[in-house]
Amino acid sequence: MAFNIRLMCQEDLPQVNEIDHEAFPTLWPPPNYHRELKNGLAHYIVACDEEEEYEPPAPKDAPPKGYFGLPARLRRLFNHHRPSDNEPASSVSGYIFGFAGLWLMAGEAHITNIAVRESYRRQGIGDLLLISMIELAVELDAHLVTLEVRASNTTAQSLYAKYGFIEVGLRRGYYTDNREDGVLMTIENVTSAPVQANLRQLKQAHARRWRAPIRRIAR
Ligand SMILES: CC(C)(COP(=O)(O)OP(=O)(O)OC[C@H]1O[C@@H](n2cnc3c(N)ncnc32)[C@H](O)[C@@H]1OP(=O)(O)O)[C@@H](O)C(=O)NCCC(=O)NCCS
Repeated sequence: MAFNIRLMCQEDLPQVNEIDHEAFPTLWPPPNYHRELKNGLAHYIVACDEEEEYEPPAPKDAPPKGYFGLPARLRRLFNHHRPSDNEPASSVSGYIFGFAGLWLMAGEAHITNIAVRESYRRQGIGDLLLISMIELAVELDAHLVTLEVRASNTTAQSLYAKYGFIEVGLRRGYYTDNREDGVLMTIENVTSAPVQANLRQLKQAHARRWRAPIRRIAR
């Protein structure tokens, strides 16, 4: 296994959309990650195994073999059909376990997303993505890292609290799907010596704890 954190690229988008859909089913369609990758303020990473092949799931509404419907015929005729972000890729090498992103604005790194495939959760991948996001924020000269999390999402809140995020406010009705409140959490002075020392310790603890290879867990 070649487990790795790297920057997200276009070829990752079918898997990223799949993970997004699983993690945030009420917020479909997902953010336009294709556009996000071209956005100079946005920075996205993926946790992946470069040596493992991604097998896209068969589309639920796939036509039976031998189907020659008009759209397919037209597509072939004009040869204009290119895979979109939401379509499964033919076969991209590298299996993505999860991803995360941030926007950098005026010295503030705003974490927009973090998600791990359900069948690979609770194996330290969320930790690693968040550590990498904080490190990326520091590399980008941010002084503050901030995010919103659903009031009901105690799992994510616990992850953020572990890495020193502190609740600093509540955005009432922040989430458009169910008008749920968003809890605003931040790490201030992220480049300061105490924050960096704490992060180093947490990183070492993570490396000691998660030595075993990542595996798929039936849920
Ligand atoms: C939040 C999420 C990214 C965590 O990913 P993960 O790979 O399972 O997380 P890890 O195994 O690295 O766990 C890291 C920490 O998260 C917290 N955590 C993870 N799963 C948890 C659970 N089921 N219950 C409580 N805390 C949990 C814990 O603090 C944990 O640290 P610990 O193992 O020392 O207790 C994942 O649950 C997810 O994708 N959820 C759906 C998307 C989402 O809600 N994203 C956040 C949007 S703001």
